[in-house]
Order: sequence, then C-alpha cells, then structure tokens
Amino acid sequence: MGRGIAIIPTAPEVARNADTHYGYRHDSNFYYLSGFSEPEAVLVLIAGDEHKTILFCREKNLEREIWDGHRVGPDAAAEQFGFDAAYSIAQLDEKLTELMGNQPALFYPLGDDAAWDQRILKLRSAVQEKVRSGIRAPDEIRDVRALLNEMRLFKDAHELDIMHRAAAISTRAHQRAMQFTRPEIFEYQVEAELLHEFCSHGARHPAYTSIVAGGANACVLHYVGNNAQLKDGELLLIDAGCELDGYASDITRTFPVNGKFSAAQKDVYEIVLAAQAAAIAAAQPKQTWNAPHDAALRVLAQGFIDLKLCSGSVDEVLESESYKKFYMHRTGHWLGMDVHDVGDYKIDNDWRALQPGMVLTVEPGCYIRPADDVPRALWNIGIRIEDDVVITAEGNEVLTDAAPKSVADIEELMRIKI
Ligand code: GLY
Ligand code: MN
Ligand code: MN
Repeated sequence: MGRGIAIIPTAPEVARNADTHYGYRHDSNFYYLSGFSEPEAVLVLIAGDEHKTILFCREKNLEREIWDGHRVGPDAAAEQFGFDAAYSIAQLDEKLTELMGNQPALFYPLGDDAAWDQRILKLRSAVQEKVRSGIRAPDEIRDVRALLNEMRLFKDAHELDIMHRAAAISTRAHQRAMQFTRPEIFEYQVEAELLHEFCSHGARHPAYTSIVAGGANACVLHYVGNNAQLKDGELLLIDAGCELDGYASDITRTFPVNGKFSAAQKDVYEIVLAAQAAAIAAAQPKQTWNAPHDAALRVLAQGFIDLKLCSGSVDEVLESESYKKFYMHRTGHWLGMDVHDVGDYKIDNDWRALQPGMVLTVEPGCYIRPADDVPRALWNIGIRIEDDVVITAEGNEVLTDAAPKSVADIEELMRIKI
C-alpha cells in the first residue's frame, strides 16, 4: 500500500427491535485482516520503515461479561491474535490523532459509513491543528477497499479449505431438502431442514437469506417469503448456502416436489443443465470472466428457440436480447467472504482473465412467466442450477458437485425419503 496508515473498523451491531439485536456479523475486510470477530473493534495498520498492527477492542468488563459473554480484551487480543499492540476502543480517537501524525497517506473504507467518514475527517483536522509543533496530517486519503478487494479475490490454500468445507455442508443441506420435500408441506418447512443441516455441522448462519420457491414463486428472482404450500406437480427452486468461518457457499438446485419431473419440466431443465455444463467448461484460466456467461447464453438461446419461447437464429436471439424475457441475470459472481464477493470484473474496460485462486458461481436459469405468446405447458416453470467453482492451474474444480443435479440423480435421491 505504500507508506501510510490504514484504519479499518468492524461492522456495528444492528438492533432488530426493542432490546434485541440481529445476530452479529463482523465486517468482511476487518475480519480478513484480523481474524477478530467481536463488535466495537478497529484495526490500524502502519506501513513505514517498520510495519505495525494495532487493534482497538472492548475492554474486559466482568459486569458486562456476566450478561453478554466473554470479551477477549486488549491484552489477550494482542497475545492471542498476534497484534503488535492492542488498546481499549475508548482510546481510539486519542491514539489515532497520535498515530496519524506525519503519515503521508490515510487509507480507510471511504464513503462506506457516513458517521465514520465524519469521525475520521474530524480526527485528521485535529492532527492538522498540530502543524505548529511540526506534525503533518496525511495529505492523501484513499479508499483501502481498492487494495483489499484485489487481495480477497485470490483465495489462498487456507481460505479454499474453508470454502470446501462450507460447500460440503451446503451440499448436504440440499440433499436433505430433496429427500424431505413432498407435496402439501410449506416452503418454510424445507427452509428449516436446510438450517438444521447448516447448524448441525457448525455453520451457524446462512450466507444469505435462503430462497425456497415452489411453482410460480421460482420466477421471482429474490423470493424470500418462503411461506407457500408446495403442490404436487410443481418444481421447487432452492437457493441456499451456509457461511462457515466467515466464508460463503451458494448453491441452487431445482427439483420436482413429487420427485418426478414432468416432460415439460424436464425439457426446460435439460437446457439449463446443458447451459451450466457449457459455462463450467468455459471457466478456465486465461478465459475471460465473461466466457462462462457467453457459453451459457448460446446454449440457452438455442434451447429457447427449440421451446418456441424465442424465434430466429441463435445469433439473432443474442443480438436482440429477446432471451432476457426468460433469462435476465448474469451467469455468476465472485464468491468468498461475501456471497457477492469483492473484486473487479473488468480491467481497463475489458473483462478480466480468470486466474487460479479465483472462486465464482456458475448459475444459469430460465424463468417462464405466463404470457399469451408462451406455450401454456411451460407457464410458471422457474429453474436455476448454481455451483461454486474454483479456478485452478489446470482448469477448475467444482466445490458443490455432490449436490445431485442430473434428472436421474435427483429422482433417485428423492425416492429415499427422510
Ligand atoms: N444467492 C445469491 C445469488 O445466487 O446470487
Ligand atoms: Mn449466486
Ligand atoms: Mn445463489
């Protein structure tokens, strides 16, 4: 980062109602650099002739710990987490005014939080007031996320190990959901099975709100109501993944509520599955970020023509974008600490090349809403198939392969009920 000081606060606790808070989730950048997951903490990094890591965190407080649980406290934090120094969060402003002095540049998540912006600028002004004692305030303020996003995009062996384990837990959850699903139950009952499997394996939270969408609900891309009753003859689309040790997994499977695809459902399903296979095959080092999307689009366009959803040639469907009526999202995103993880998709206006260590999702779909010009047998079919893919030196590895996705494998697993 060059010489300077970086200040990275963690996320605030968020009230749900009255005295109750949402389950606490640290800020991803803060946790990436510190491994520390308590609220009310700030990491300071100094890069100069010597590098220094400093944590500000909650002090020990036996009274509060009786009510809210253990706090590491500055002394133990420095020792256990390997910071060069750690102080009480109450000392933050005073210490920062010292630490900022004579640093050429200040890096922090600029614009992320208005209150932090104000606080940091106020502290910088306080440093400026010391100019007559020969102390300068940082001339330059930069967004630290530009650096961190690029670091986080490339996962090391330790991160990949966690992501493998997260993917394995989510895979089991999807298997469980398939075996549990039957007509007449409610979407939220299937959601409960997913959460059960996540939590039973130590993944205490989903990485995002699970989508459990029966029938027409599958055509609502961000459906999270999860409160409808599942009917015989419908498909069920589940988009759900756990978070483990701060890393996300993200899987979608679509399967018949009664365990057997109808002919029309199977026709659409096989097209989406073939589109996904083409996209995964294109997720290779040196291919661009957009190659999997392009590969999926060509297969989907041909499929939409075959199903009489679109007319013309594949090139015409792609050129006119008539496919967007049935496939309106992109084929994936980076995956990591955030489900839609950080990292640029273009460099200098060109799609960037895929490189080993990058992790992405591959998730084509097809969503057919009722319309006069759409064959009636296809109405309300919504399908997405999503896997998590690591780019390797040789090609790629699909982390979530064990969740069944061929028609035969799904139907076979669903015969064994739990
Ligand atoms: N689950 C969010 C997504 O698939 O992008
Ligand atoms: Mn996704
Ligand atoms: Mn998803």
